[in-house]
Amino acid sequence: MSKIKVVLFMGGDSGEYEVSMASSKQIKNHLDPEKYKVYPVLIRGGNWLYTNESGEQIPFDRNTHSLMIGGEHVKFDCAFIAIHGTPGEDGKLQGYLDIAGIPYTTCDVTTSALTFNKYFCNDLAKQYGVKVAATIIIRQGETWNADLLVKEVGLPCFIKPNKAGSSVGVSKVYDIAGFEIAINKAFAEDDEVLVQQFIKGREMACGVFTNKGEVEVFPVTEVVSKNDFFDYQAKYTEGLASEITPAPITKEQSSECRQLTEYMYRKFNCKGVVRFDYFLTDNEWWFLEVNTVPGFSSESIIPKQAKAAGYELKQFFGALVDEAMRENTPNL
Ligand SMILES: Nc1ncnc2c1ncn2[C@@H]1O[C@H](COP(=O)(O)OP(=O)(O)O)[C@@H](O)[C@H]1O
Ligand SMILES: [Mg+2]
Repeated sequence: MSKIKVVLFMGGDSGEYEVSMASSKQIKNHLDPEKYKVYPVLIRGGNWLYTNESGEQIPFDRNTHSLMIGGEHVKFDCAFIAIHGTPGEDGKLQGYLDIAGIPYTTCDVTTSALTFNKYFCNDLAKQYGVKVAATIIIRQGETWNADLLVKEVGLPCFIKPNKAGSSVGVSKVYDIAGFEIAINKAFAEDDEVLVQQFIKGREMACGVFTNKGEVEVFPVTEVVSKNDFFDYQAKYTEGLASEITPAPITKEQSSECRQLTEYMYRKFNCKGVVRFDYFLTDNEWWFLEVNTVPGFSSESIIPKQAKAAGYELKQFFGALVDEAMRENTPNL
């Protein structure tokens, strides 16, 4: 049987470039070479480049959706998207792949675009009966007044880009004097900024994926950061945060979280592996955000949850490709 040809998209131009490189390395290392032939393609600065074993760079041809290798067009059976943030997590790459007719491992265009927009996603989660923090959006060019914002969300509060990830541009703000710097920092990442109520609770994450058509929810993970919150440094510096899987919570709490995760996965029409993040306050679950291209590096939560659920990474990453090919074939 010929091998399944997988194009592995990595890189991107967002603040999550490094994370994407670590994720893709782990995916490449664990996709079974007996079954899959993986072609990593770096999307960066407008270029889409595949580097072959001898270091030669070959551009990915976006017209024919293929790579010209040894005088032949290599076409792909599946795309594995390992780009966090734009263009891999916000629907843009998904749109291209739909047109190209290549199935992919993530949510579709609509779900990716909607969930990557924290403001829209929050509003919809609220509509679905889930608890979310009070949030105000400021769009580029709009004026804002810190006193009025504080009246709505209280202090401390969180100020962050609406469409970004890995805590890039996120600040916890304790007083009105801190607003300007925090808002400017968030605007450096995105053209929309959120001012959000601080949720005081224990931070939790719960992954979920579809395996052979069945939705499977992973165990819950508790995130304990040594920093003031789970910022970029705490996320990617050894020893600054511990991620405890399964989370030290009661059986009932764990089952509530996992049920909520499955409920939202279905409501948002998710595909592939997705990680929902929450805060657990006095026995209440508050939804923080959803990551439709969660981290896959060896430090990341999803690989740890997959292992805790009894999967070998080879099996897990393979299942994502197989499911995408089974389920996600676009009908153009
Ligand atoms: N409203 C909030 N209340 C408490 N902590 C928050 C809040 N918003 C963000 N945080 C903290 O900041 C981190 C990053 O925020 P998040 O909204 O998840 O953005 P990102 O997409 O960059 O991960 C969270 O993991 C959490 O530690
Ligand atoms: Mg987050």
